[in-house]
Amino acid sequence: MLIVANWKAYVESPQKAKALFAAAKRLSGKKGIEIALAPAAPYLGLLAPGNRSKVAFGVQDISDATGGAATGEVTAATARAFGARYAIVGHSERRARGESDATILAKAQHALAQGMQPILCIGEHERDTDAQYLHFIRGQITAIFSALTPHERLDVVIAYEPIWAIGRTAADAIAPSDLTEMVLYIRKVLSDHVSGDAATHMRVLYGGSVEPGNARSLASGSGIDGFLVGHASTDPKEFAALVNAVS
Ligand code: PGA
Repeated sequence: MLIVANWKAYVESPQKAKALFAAAKRLSGKKGIEIALAPAAPYLGLLAPGNRSKVAFGVQDISDATGGAATGEVTAATARAFGARYAIVGHSERRARGESDATILAKAQHALAQGMQPILCIGEHERDTDAQYLHFIRGQITAIFSALTPHERLDVVIAYEPIWAIGRTAADAIAPSDLTEMVLYIRKVLSDHVSGDAATHMRVLYGGSVEPGNARSLASGSGIDGFLVGHASTDPKEFAALVNAVS
């Protein structure tokens, strides 16, 4: 299981960042568990250089620019140079700020060009009764995958994060049976873009109110390969309880 801790902007002090990293290191030895921290860029610079632990690092976003006159941007090359292995792209909180599929594609391509794995976030706003959300999900995947090379497609990690389930409580997360269905559907869409049975091996994560109380039921039998965890990843005790629940 890949458990990605998306700290968002919840972590605003070096002390807290260090405490969370220490907790992640203690958890990272568990069999079958890979932990990746996705802090804000300054904390990547604080924690990742010289990291010899099993904890991997990622960034919450990268620039669609590749350098030069782009004030305020953190490029893929910069993130990579500081030890990021993963780059979250297309998070709904970025899309809500106006990010288009074209921008997300550029970000994914820059991450891949630097040897990072993009974690492509997809997810519907709501579940309508006539299943339009399935077309929406297909569209989000196709917009990116159709423009990547066959080789690049295999390096993308999918994070299915229904927007209606983000930032709430375990009770509001997706039902395990619905998650199972969605993961099957996502792999079916992926299979249109990769050859052979590659889609069955690609990593599909779930995110949206994953907490210690629901992690195990969401993980068991749903076909996911891990979680993208927001608020529950920013408290060392809660994050430890979550990781322990699935290991
Ligand atoms: P949440 O966030 O766990 O706080 O719902 C998940 C995410 O948005 O990545």
